[in-house]
Amino acid sequence: MKHDAVMLEEALRGLAVRTGGCYVDCTYGRGGHTTALLEQGARQVVAFDKDPAAVQHARETWRDDARLQLVEGSFMGIRQLDKVDGMLFDLGVSSPLLEDASRGFGFQVDGPLDMRYAPVGETAAEFLQRVSEVELADVLWRYGDERASRRIARAVVAARPVRTWQLAAIVKRVLGGARRRHPATKVFLALRLYINRELEELELALACVPERLVLGGRLVVIAFHSLEDRIVKRFMRAEMRPLGRFRAGAAEVAMNPRARSAVLRVATV
Ligand SMILES: C[S@@+](CC[C@H](N)C(=O)[O-])C[C@H]1O[C@@H](n2cnc3c(N)ncnc32)[C@H](O)[C@@H]1O
Repeated sequence: MKHDAVMLEEALRGLAVRTGGCYVDCTYGRGGHTTALLEQGARQVVAFDKDPAAVQHARETWRDDARLQLVEGSFMGIRQLDKVDGMLFDLGVSSPLLEDASRGFGFQVDGPLDMRYAPVGETAAEFLQRVSEVELADVLWRYGDERASRRIARAVVAARPVRTWQLAAIVKRVLGGARRRHPATKVFLALRLYINRELEELELALACVPERLVLGGRLVVIAFHSLEDRIVKRFMRAEMRPLGRFRAGAAEVAMNPRARSAVLRVATV
């Protein structure tokens, strides 16, 4: 399974990649951005990913290439690094994760409701077995901006689904099919963000960035929905010097629909 790196050229330009520079790819995925950094002459790339499948892919691809230092775990680990020339966050789920039924991230394939990037902590199914209606409504509202959060929470708690298609069918029954996107899109997003503490980890990691960049070093973040992007925008405005905000071009969106919602921001110290 392949993952097309989103906004690759804009990310490299944003990072102002130079020969001999050191960079951090906080979200390796299938290494699209890491590969490009090394091809552009980076001396060293430190790459993080929580997903064991991503890390295995990296190990098999790069073997003992000393230019790549791999870290299996959260990008919050950047706080332990020496200073670098640039850091990249390409947030969210990779295509292989979304398409792997056993990981439970997507409603296009049926599988157990897992939704964890790393096999630690509570799965979405376990959460749905114990959560109260009020708490679930709060999660759907807070992390999914889901206006029908209460009605959906009532139906989900009544059925306590354990598989992706079960959950998607419940949401569809509550909401009907009138929405432009699949009616369960926001519910799946909310659960994923909650289960992985994604927004919290992003905030904690961003807070470490300015100290870990050399003077003039660059931060590039690609976000895929407004909750993430708002955190990035506020952080860059408050703690760094924002340099720009970019969207994917029409040609890229035509080739890779994932790029449609991508917002790339660049800042420096
Ligand atoms: C959109 S993909 C990155 C794709 C990559 N840029 C490429 O071109 O192949 C995001 C990756 O970030 C990982 N991830 C998500 N949250 C993370 C976190 N807190 N720490 C480390 N990796 C994380 C996911 O497992 C996923 O592989």
